[in-house]
Amino acid sequence: PHVVAVIPAAGVGSRMQADRPKQYLSLAGKTILEHTVTLLLNHPSVSRVVIAISHDDDFIHSLPIIANANIDLVEGGKTRADSVLNALATLPEESWALVHDAARPCVSHQDIDALLAVMNNSNTTGGILASPVRDTMKRACDHGQASLISHTESRENLWHALTPQLFPTGVLLRALNKALSNSVTITDEASAIEYAGGKVALINGNPANIKITHPADLPLAEFYIKQTHK
Ligand code: CTP
Ligand code: MG
Repeated sequence: PHVVAVIPAAGVGSRMQADRPKQYLSLAGKTILEHTVTLLLNHPSVSRVVIAISHDDDFIHSLPIIANANIDLVEGGKTRADSVLNALATLPEESWALVHDAARPCVSHQDIDALLAVMNNSNTTGGILASPVRDTMKRACDHGQASLISHTESRENLWHALTPQLFPTGVLLRALNKALSNSVTITDEASAIEYAGGKVALINGNPANIKITHPADLPLAEFYIKQTHK
């Protein structure tokens, strides 16, 4: 089947507190966005890459890679889900959308391959890369006492949702529209599919596939990138 990579890259990176959106910070000689785009474009199953960027993005046109004929740009939206929706709207309904955060340049082709295998599983709608929770999980008290522990959540069967997340484009588009029009909080593609009643496979991925979020993540991501390209 026809697999198109969708890269939401329209965020401002507020938690990074840098002088530009975090996807335009440099790691090992290239911007984070260039690492992510190159990695997806170089995957043999990915035919096209659609990048959602902010309407006031001043950086994208300085990246040589966007001249590649297999890359399309679309305007992002207010939330990540809006950015993904804008990209999906440009894709053939019968394609598969491989949605991957710009801020995750450390994903391996091996993990992408494992995820792509869900296309052959007729029992699931699609799947996501995920990683079992490692730490003991605490639920904080509500409101005024938010710095006190209410109780410990069971760690059993608890996973971190990573990206890429892979779904049939038309199914994902309808699920996201349905969730957004019902004001359901959507923080990843799977949450929209779950809301619509679909079945999502968890594919155990490498935890090195971090989402660069805080300044301390930069040296760590650089280390992982250098490992992957050895
Ligand atoms: N994203 C997007 N459109 C938005 C918000 C986020 O395309 N309106 C993208 C980001 O560019 C990022 C991915 O979604 O690649 C994951 O979001 P996150 O890590 O939260 O990035 P930011 O929203 O930019 O960071 P922050 O939340 O710290 O501001
Ligand atoms: Mg954000």
